[in-house]
Amino acid sequence: MNQQKPIAWPVRIGDRLATAWAGRRIDYYDTIDSTNTVARRLGRLDPEIAPHGTLVVADEQTRGRGRMDRVWQSRPGEAALMSLLLRPAALAPADAVGIVLVTALAVCDACRSFGADALIKWPNDIVCGGKKICGMLLDMDADADRVRFAVVGVGLNISGYPSAEGLRHASCLNDAAGKVLDRADVIARFLAEFERRYDFWASGGDILPDYSARCVTLGSRVKVAGLMETFEGEALRVLPDGALMVRRDGGEETPVRAGDVSVRGVMDYI
Ligand code: BTN
Repeated sequence: MNQQKPIAWPVRIGDRLATAWAGRRIDYYDTIDSTNTVARRLGRLDPEIAPHGTLVVADEQTRGRGRMDRVWQSRPGEAALMSLLLRPAALAPADAVGIVLVTALAVCDACRSFGADALIKWPNDIVCGGKKICGMLLDMDADADRVRFAVVGVGLNISGYPSAEGLRHASCLNDAAGKVLDRADVIARFLAEFERRYDFWASGGDILPDYSARCVTLGSRVKVAGLMETFEGEALRVLPDGALMVRRDGGEETPVRAGDVSVRGVMDYI
């Protein structure tokens, strides 16, 4: 009998791809420690082998990494777990935050294109109905004045999410869009949005107006848990270097560059 081996689902990403460089090489794993870790390894190889835009995708991660050394959890097959390898032509490390803003915009707009009411929670969470559906993590390999390569990892819950106590503010794209989506379709749409936004940004385009228009943090009451202190105030604007300007209750304006920023009404912060 002629038994056909099922085709791994990421092959369908290629079938749907409408990009010049993003995702033109895709490395797929059933189970891997972390797609960011694998993409970093690829980054050290010759660009002929692992070119700008190489995508690493996995069904399951055993050591998924989140921001601020947290663990990123997901159940097999439920999320788009992916990392894009980027080889910017000339980018200073301080400007690499732009990659995070580009990625947040691309995921947000891809989710919206499927009917989800998606917003960005500064700096790079995607939330729907006050719950987080996606997080992002930027890794870099850089000299003092130049990024050799960057890896941006995206964990987008599609059909479900872990139900651990610490994740009670989570949701997934299917719930937000009210329909069952194909992971390959979502990833292909993300790649198209990403490539368009990245090329615009890399050629000097200003992405802050679009980012700000989708950022639920702006104009909201926020609680900032920074590295040195915790305070409350109102989020005013995002600065060109990606920092969030917050007016403290006393009136003083403070740029926030790191730490956790909770937004009133989002992810159960009241
Ligand atoms: C966060 O919100 O803390 C960021 C989460 C980033 C998770 C993604 S999943 C794919 C990629 N591989 C990782 O190990 N992390 C990122």
